[in-house]
Order: sequence, then structure tokens, then C-alpha cells
Amino acid sequence: MKEKLQLLFKTISSEIAKASTVAELDNVKNIHMSRKSELNNIRKNLKDLSDTDKKIIGSLTNKIFQDLQILLEEKYELLKTAERNEKLKAEVIDITLPGTYIPFGKLHPITKTINEITEIFQGMGFSIASAENSPEVETEYINFDMLNFPKEHPARDMQDTYYCENSDNIILRSQTSGTQIREMLSKKPPIRIISPGRVFRCESISARKHNQFHQIEGLLIDKNISFSDLKGTLNEFIKIYFGGERPTRLRNSFFPFTEPSCEVDVQCIMCSGKGCRTCSGTGWLEILGAGMVDINVLKNVGIDSETYSGFAFGMGVERMTMLKYAIDDIRLFFNNDIRFLAQFRGR
Ligand code: PHE
Repeated sequence: MKEKLQLLFKTISSEIAKASTVAELDNVKNIHMSRKSELNNIRKNLKDLSDTDKKIIGSLTNKIFQDLQILLEEKYELLKTAERNEKLKAEVIDITLPGTYIPFGKLHPITKTINEITEIFQGMGFSIASAENSPEVETEYINFDMLNFPKEHPARDMQDTYYCENSDNIILRSQTSGTQIREMLSKKPPIRIISPGRVFRCESISARKHNQFHQIEGLLIDKNISFSDLKGTLNEFIKIYFGGERPTRLRNSFFPFTEPSCEVDVQCIMCSGKGCRTCSGTGWLEILGAGMVDINVLKNVGIDSETYSGFAFGMGVERMTMLKYAIDDIRLFFNNDIRFLAQFRGR
């Protein structure tokens, strides 16, 4: 019996050693360690042995059982670790591989400039005019009459302004200045607004001109507003927008809705005043029109010009963007060529 048990131990332990997968080991376990196994049969029949044999064979059987159990556990551990390692090896991810590039949109340079400029003026206490006061399809009355343009003014000519078909007074606005009128009609002073928007002019398209572009209008109406307030506001804006101490100058000018009127030049960004192609050799670049709101305009909107005065200014957004980023063709803003647009990052 003893020999038989020892032989059995040898056979089973060598089968455990030979098993090369968890499934094979399960099989060995099922055959040799189950209730119907030979080993268990011996155990069950111990009761038929003599007392001395019962003791010897009984403890030997138990020992063999325990030893096999330990062998099995060790082997299970070994095989499971090996199988896990195989699986991990097969599933390995190379984290150094580049990920899939997902392109995402960026803001159009014109939008970027509008955001930047309005934020500068917001910092000075201006707020953005309500959208309903800034329609692109406008009446000739608001775009011209209320702004003190005489009836025969050449800017009203069909050459410059797009008139709607079948209408002699509905136009595509030629300037954002109509927003001044709508704001003054709908609000009481003090008024301090900034209004970006698209305007249209019947121009033939070239590198320097387009039949649609954007302007930013500014208007401030309050008590005791003088020309020096206008000058200070614009100088501060130019300093922030172009950075550093860029020289500016005011030139006498004319707009029907401001009196006195001026145009603001900055020293040429390209040549710093030496004279180049961009500034046509003058060393200066015109960037905006401005002036004190004409008394006739205040009258038109019913604001008492004895108590209130104010200033207005307007600038071309494309021009401001072209100067800042040294872009030499206005058409680039409207072509939507992704190679151009992708160069403008950020907000
Ligand atoms: N609307 C003028 C233009 O288009 C610019 C301007 C705005 C001038 C406000 C003075 C005051 O040229």
C-alpha cells in the first residue's frame, strides 16, 4: 500500500510538473484529487485497515494529499503569472507613438482683432452696442441723413453705396456710424459704446480694397467732453494695440457728422518712419477717422448740445489687422484659404 501511494505521488507530481497551461493543470487536479480519484478511494477505504496500518497509511495519505496540494498551488501560481505576462506582452501599447491629430478651428484674424480692440475699449469703460442697433441692411436715412450728409453728397452716389433693388432708400450700410444714431435714439446720455460690424462699398476688388470690410465705431456722449478727451482716449488705445511708444499724429480732416474732424496716423509699422512702399514714402499710416459729434447730429437725435458734447471715431478692422501682422493683401481675409487662416492662433 505504501509503495502504491508513493508511486501515485510520483505519477501525480510529475503530471503536475508537466502541465504547461492552467487548463492542463485543472485536468490533472480533476482526475487525481477529486472525490472519485484513486487517492480519495484509498482514503475512503482506510477504515477497512488494521489499526496500525490505518495510522501509518492514514498519515501518509494525508501527507501526500497536502504535498500535492502545495505542488498544485505553486504550479497554478507559476502558470497564471506566465499567462498574465504573455497577455500583457501581447497587449502592450507603445505610448511613444504619436496620437491622431484632430484639427480644430481657430478664430478668424478679423474676429481676433475685433475681440482685441473691443476689449481694450471695454477696459476704458466702453460697452458693446446692442446688436439690434447695428444692422447691415440700413436705411439711407440713418446711414446718411441723420449723420448730416447733404442730399447731394458724393458718398451717396450709386458708385459707393449698394442700394437694394426696387428701393431707393434701403442700402447695405457703407459705414458703422449709423449705430451712433440708433444708440443715441434709444439711450439717454451718458453714452459710451463701441460697435464692430461689416460694411459694404461698391469698390472694385484689389489687394488694397474690397467691397466688404469691417469697421469699429466708437461713441462717447457726456457732460464736459472735449477734444483732448478724444485725443487721450485714442492715444491710449494705439499704445495698447500696437505696443510701446509708437508716435501718432492728428491731421485735420472732414466728416459730415463730426466738427472738428481729424484723422489719426501712426508712424509706419514697416519702416518706423523712414518711408517705404506700405506708407507710400510718407513714414505715416492713416488708421482712423474721428471728431467731436456735430451739433446738427445731436439735434437730429434730440440731445441737448448745451449740456452734452461727445466724440466719435471709426476704424477699419482689416487695416488694423494688416498693419499689426504685416499682411499685404486684403483679399486674404475673404478667400478662406486654410494655409493663411491657420497662422492665427489664440483667442
Ligand atoms: N464713418 C467714417 C468712415 O467710414 C469714420 C468715422 C467714424 C469718422 C466716426 C469720424 C467719426 O470713414
